[in-house]
Amino acid sequence: MARRRVLFAASEVYPFAKTGGLADVAHSLPRALNGDYDLTVVMPLYRGVDLDRFGIVPTGEAFEVNMGGEGYPVTLYGCDYEGVEYRFVASPLLSERDYLYGPPECGYADNMTRFGIFSHAIVELLRRGGYAVAHLNDWQCGLAALLMRDDASVEAKSLFTIHNLAYQGVFEAACLKTLGIGSEHFTMEGVEFYGRLNFMKAGIGYADRVTTVSPSYAREILTPEFGCGLEGYLRHHRGKLSGIVNGIDTRHFSPEHDAALEAPYRLPSGKAANKSAFLKRTGLKGAKKPLFVFIGRFTWQKGLDLLIDALPKIAVLECNVAILGEGEAAYHDRLKAVAEAHANVSLEFGYDEGLSHRMYAAADFLLMPSLFEPCGLNQMIAMRYGALPVVHRVGGLADTVLPVEGYAPGSGDGFGIAFSAATKRALFGAVQRAVELYGDRRRFGAIARHNMECDFSWEERSKAYAALYEQLAQSG
Ligand code: GLC
Repeated sequence: MARRRVLFAASEVYPFAKTGGLADVAHSLPRALNGDYDLTVVMPLYRGVDLDRFGIVPTGEAFEVNMGGEGYPVTLYGCDYEGVEYRFVASPLLSERDYLYGPPECGYADNMTRFGIFSHAIVELLRRGGYAVAHLNDWQCGLAALLMRDDASVEAKSLFTIHNLAYQGVFEAACLKTLGIGSEHFTMEGVEFYGRLNFMKAGIGYADRVTTVSPSYAREILTPEFGCGLEGYLRHHRGKLSGIVNGIDTRHFSPEHDAALEAPYRLPSGKAANKSAFLKRTGLKGAKKPLFVFIGRFTWQKGLDLLIDALPKIAVLECNVAILGEGEAAYHDRLKAVAEAHANVSLEFGYDEGLSHRMYAAADFLLMPSLFEPCGLNQMIAMRYGALPVVHRVGGLADTVLPVEGYAPGSGDGFGIAFSAATKRALFGAVQRAVELYGDRRRFGAIARHNMECDFSWEERSKAYAALYEQLAQSG
């Protein structure tokens, strides 16, 4: 039997363009599903996408997106990568910019037009037929769910996945006209949000099914604390909402075969060589002391305020801390001040994939005090590299990191240090417990080894998506 065709749409896909975890999932999930389904991944063609490196060429297809009386030219590009078919939507507004969404800390003012074009282009691909399911990801594709409903020539069913509810794509009501969306959709049940237009709402309201990236986050977003103003709307649609935990690309994140590492390894004992190389590089002293790392974007979501407030106390403990990332300027300054005051805190700005791998390999613990976390991937990468995560027990962190107090060797789950209150005291307490656990070398080693053997791949986890695709395809 011919495999069913699925159009998988995302605004960023690794290795073509990436600002966050969405890009990783949009790369590794379609690849895992591609055996059972015939996947086409579609994303915008940004200026930064390296055409030569990936052999991306025009497919010869071009069309015009018509919205609000304006025509926007679209040219399709394509390539095959790791056995998956990719389509890139090129259009001047999408493709002739330096950033994906805008310079740090602000989005481009015309993002609604840019991702309106992208959503229309997705629907044009669907119109050409053959797809059983359109899997739409995050607000940038939200409008496509609405457009599909309005278009009788589209047969595909839609699945909308929320990767982060904090980013919704909210624009002035006047944009409705620019986007050519009928005013009948500008209601509380539709895309209206406090007098403005909300792309995320379009995805949630109009898609046939909605998922988010962990079961805990799927429950949390029904509450005011995590619902970002959409908790009521989500509760209304809870019948079609579920949570599926993300996997990671275990080929890319494999300590045994990682070319970025000083000394690839299979057992926790193999981390020592990587740790001493990393300490030497950063000037940190004391290979016997536990090394805590933080890797990620410097934004409030990731718990930067907690981290910065707790760091001076943490630095007094017998440990080293290494931080890598970039983000908001205020966090850069505050982190710099702490790092300058403490010899056992090292700080590097920027994002360097190779260096991050070397840090996972060197680390004994990964700090992840996120205020909220739809899923989170770093904690799983850390466990795979034999570093124990120290996490705030929310969202995907609660689902993927079980507290070490309940450690059971036979379990298929990963273990780490978890704290419940989002306070600097709770974070500091967790770090203290980590230092203590590190002193119990046998127990620490056993848990690290157990974690390294856990399955965080998409192999099993992608089956939940396959089941949803099947339900959707059969519901037609
Ligand atoms: C977003 C979320 C993160 C999740 C990722 C992939 O970046 O913030 O928690 O892991 O999407 O789904």
